[in-house]
Amino acid sequence: MMNSGFLRVLCLSALMSVSAISHHASAQQATDEVAPESGSFAPAEAPIEIDLLGDDTKGVKSNNWMIAAAHPLASEAGATVLRNGGNAIDAMVAVQLMLGLVEPQSSGLGGGAFLVYWDAANKRLTSFDGRETAPMAATPTLFQDENGEPLMFYDAVVGGRSVGVPGTPLLLEAVHGRYGSMPWATLFDSAITLADQGFEVSHRLASSIEEDKERLSRFDGTKNYFFREDGTPLQSGDMRINAAYANTLRQISQQGTDAFYRGEIAQEIVSTVQSAPGNPGLLTMDDLAAYRIKERTPICVNYRGFDVCGIGPPSSGALTIGQILGTLRAYDLKGLGPNSPQAWRLIGDASRLAFADRDRYMADSDFVPVPTKGLIADGYLANRGVLMRENKLDEVTPGEPQFDHALYQADDESIELPSTSHFVIRDSLGNVVSMTTTIENGFGSRLMAAGFLLNNELTDFSFRTHVNGYPIANRVEPGKRPRSSMSPTIVMRSNVPYMALGSPGGSRIIGYVAKTLIAHIDWGLSLQSSINMPHLINRFGTYDLEAGTAAENFAPALEELGYNVSVRDLNSGLHGIVIDGDKLIGGADPRREGTIIGE
Ligand code: GLY
Repeated sequence: MMNSGFLRVLCLSALMSVSAISHHASAQQATDEVAPESGSFAPAEAPIEIDLLGDDTKGVKSNNWMIAAAHPLASEAGATVLRNGGNAIDAMVAVQLMLGLVEPQSSGLGGGAFLVYWDAANKRLTSFDGRETAPMAATPTLFQDENGEPLMFYDAVVGGRSVGVPGTPLLLEAVHGRYGSMPWATLFDSAITLADQGFEVSHRLASSIEEDKERLSRFDGTKNYFFREDGTPLQSGDMRINAAYANTLRQISQQGTDAFYRGEIAQEIVSTVQSAPGNPGLLTMDDLAAYRIKERTPICVNYRGFDVCGIGPPSSGALTIGQILGTLRAYDLKGLGPNSPQAWRLIGDASRLAFADRDRYMADSDFVPVPTKGLIADGYLANRGVLMRENKLDEVTPGEPQFDHALYQADDESIELPSTSHFVIRDSLGNVVSMTTTIENGFGSRLMAAGFLLNNELTDFSFRTHVNGYPIANRVEPGKRPRSSMSPTIVMRSNVPYMALGSPGGSRIIGYVAKTLIAHIDWGLSLQSSINMPHLINRFGTYDLEAGTAAENFAPALEELGYNVSVRDLNSGLHGIVIDGDKLIGGADPRREGTIIGE
């Protein structure tokens, strides 16, 4: 049975061919008229009477500036810069350098990052790509064995083969050179002092070491750093000095990132990668010297009056979040509410549709054709939304967005596991930083050079190159950037920033950020409650429900709707700030050690 609203959108959809770009306003009006058909929602119609909201105690308010980052010492390093008169970009440098010391398993100088930035003076939103690149000697079969079969994931990750050229140091320097206000060297003070004096190993770092102790002990340099002298893993509360990191920071603070990309540090990176026991890599001095960051136009999708903006390819983050939200525009999530299994059916299937497109089309657009505009065109998303009007989608396949020469590609098969860190900063001038930063897997390649871990970002590429003769967009190519899921987001309202948000979590980042936006925008929850809300995440069909939370209560209803359900840990690390007039309202994920500081 179809209601009249649905028929109206069906007719409009038929009129809007995929090759005709629709005007945003008309498609928005058409799709907003359509509510889910209540009659088709039995038998799982009854709301689940549970508290999905969690506690709101970590939320912090202030009026002047605010930082939310994954470790209290990182937030404090940024706060010190802001108190001393620095701006958000100055603070960004200090936060990242401190994260590389106290949360080394997640991000650092040996990795890459994406930044979405609101430049208040020029009223301009922009984004920067500091993603790692594949060495020039890399071939598409980098992660295949002699029979052309994909390597086992950790056989590829651990060692030099997975290490791409780090982008984070140059991103910090280049963006600071353009927007920073404090002298570069002063931004290193907090991290150098703590690296010299020693920092206290946190509970999260200690338990990450414990879980990964076998891999971490394969390389002497890494073992010596993450284990005590008696050979046991570092424990929570242990003090750890990192003299090599302090030395690296001193060099970069004095000589700039030339020291990193061309000098002694580069040599140490290259020799560590090329001589990794059992799994050497290809990185050369020329690869490091050739590295560049890229400024990219942010990708924005309108959702119920907000422009949700993020980083485009090589990240799939903003496009996939935009697709999820775009296909949901037609449905009344507010009316359904967070306790309705039907709301989660719609969110889950919107996500499945978006992931089908992601795996077919999204990769480094400097190397392969990505139908960026077509994937988020209003008419295309309206048509995709129509597919999920009644029941759970049995089968989900990629759509055919406008820009047809991208259509002859196969689906990606890359494996993505959670790690990474996200932080947000809003300074007293109104500048906003939303930065997601990573070395990919927890502890990256497990190789350490010059006091920091080296990334394994290249395993974000597809291990296969083709399926049935069709090329995979995210295959390895020399100089290419592996597809990411990182989703640093700035939400605009009336052309000014309203919210900055993001999370770690591999490809689940996309679901974590989308859920938080829906909880805030559709269900009216505070940012902190939206972050706290238990996760229900669907990427490829299985519904992941956050273990130990009220999300588990959805299992029977979602199974009845036809989903396979998996109850598991879902370790997001969402950090955000809402900018509501003069008021700043922060949110930090209780699942990690994040802290908000605001004054
Ligand atoms: N390596 C995590 C990501 O880029 O999505």
